[in-house]
Amino acid sequence: MNIDKINTETEANKFSKQTEYMEKIKRYLSDFEQDTGRKQTYFVFTTGCQMNAHDSEKIAGMLEEMGFLRSLTEEDADFVIYNTCCIRENAEVKIYGRLGRLKHFKKTNKNMKIALCGCMTQQDVVIEKLRKSYKYVDIVFGTFNLYKLPELLYTNLETNETVFDIWKEEKGIVENIPTILEYPFKASVNISYGCDNFCSYCIVPYVRGRERSRKKEDILNEIKCLAASGIKEIVLLGQNVNSYGKNLNPPVSFAQLLREINELDGIERIRFMTSHPKDLSDELILAMKECSKVCNYLHLPFQAGSNAILEKMNRKYTKEKYLELINKIRSQIPDILLSTDIMVGFPGETEDDFLDTLDVVNTVGFSTAFTFIYSKRTGTPAAVMDNQIDEKTVKDRFNRLVDAVNKKIYEIHSGFVGKTLNILVEDVSKQDENIVSGRSENNCLVHFPGNKDIIGQTVPVKITGNKTFYLIGERI
Ligand code: SAH
Ligand code: SF4
Ligand code: F3S
Repeated sequence: MNIDKINTETEANKFSKQTEYMEKIKRYLSDFEQDTGRKQTYFVFTTGCQMNAHDSEKIAGMLEEMGFLRSLTEEDADFVIYNTCCIRENAEVKIYGRLGRLKHFKKTNKNMKIALCGCMTQQDVVIEKLRKSYKYVDIVFGTFNLYKLPELLYTNLETNETVFDIWKEEKGIVENIPTILEYPFKASVNISYGCDNFCSYCIVPYVRGRERSRKKEDILNEIKCLAASGIKEIVLLGQNVNSYGKNLNPPVSFAQLLREINELDGIERIRFMTSHPKDLSDELILAMKECSKVCNYLHLPFQAGSNAILEKMNRKYTKEKYLELINKIRSQIPDILLSTDIMVGFPGETEDDFLDTLDVVNTVGFSTAFTFIYSKRTGTPAAVMDNQIDEKTVKDRFNRLVDAVNKKIYEIHSGFVGKTLNILVEDVSKQDENIVSGRSENNCLVHFPGNKDIIGQTVPVKITGNKTFYLIGERI
């Protein structure tokens, strides 16, 4: 796969200090190459959301800039980085398990350095555990100081001691971090960091800090650069994109930002996530309708259908308000497809509460839905609420939810059979090199015959079949 290097062109800033450390590591790596006849390699393992995936693109960017080569396997890499998520307990369990395995690899590969970063390391309990039971981890940093990786690695190389560097909050947004994109035709762009909503179940505000918006000019400049390098689709990222810019001076609305991005040459598709229903304005619906490049697709998590549960979740809307909003969006943009996040098993959830959730699923009809079992996160208000739901009841509700969701997905996708969709081709199938997959503007996943040469192209595809989670078709 082609890999592009993007260096956002903004004023000189904090990252420039790191370039000194990058130079030092470059020299260290070139000495290593002279001694051994090979380059050092890195492997980044990422869990969690697109925010983390994009952070990993920055980690890869810094490492390659210093002279590391990407390794396809973890066990023989010289530098292994786990960029972690802690949204649910099983995300953490997975990382500890994988770290245990890595200990054995490190025994046979003496050069191996291990770094842990991301949301998980922002929790004191995790740091304690690492200090006590995972002494072989070399570098631990958090979500606010990712840009310091060169300095932290250099310190570790000099001292050979574990480096812990966790900040409680960010000290200003850092621009100019070199980035290596996963795909040469689509890119994620941060528009805001952190979250101020404090949904009662959620750990994100504690590990990602208060909401900060990037300056509009920095965002536009980055997108111009991306367009110039051949990027066709951008995904704007924020925990709640709808509240983008309210603390900027002067304030900028998300709708305004979308309109300006829509004017930029080269970009064909604009996506964004995530939207909080409480902040989705009429101005934004109008901007989505009027901006030709903004995709007819909206990810709008509703979490739960019961008003009592929504209140306890601190979501600040009711079932009725959510459904009203959906109607309003559909009346303005009739062919829009909707996706959502749904949770079952929140403390105190009764059967009737759950039926309200099913009702929203059946009333709206989502083309995609991410379904979760509530996971208790220490430090959040929900963790100490009464009536945590037993596992059997939760599993039963979860299965019923998934059945309802899938039935609707199948119905919605059936409506596309016989139609033609423009597909931006993303990947070749792992099982068959003569099958490719890509996405329509409204985010339907489509598989059809083709080969790697058309990756990154937008092609018309006639839909011939419905496999629930994806469609099949033929290029016309
Ligand atoms: N900022 C986004 C989502 C961030 S987390 C938003 O507000 O929509 C992605 C999803 O994980 C959430 O929408 C929620 O459904 C789920 N989630 C968050 N905390 C969780 C928890 N403690 N247990 C289970 N699922 C959770
Ligand atoms: Fe978590 Fe709520 Fe913020 Fe989303 S809006 S990140 S669910 S606190
Ligand atoms: Fe996970 Fe952090 Fe994203 S907790 S969901 S990686 S913001």
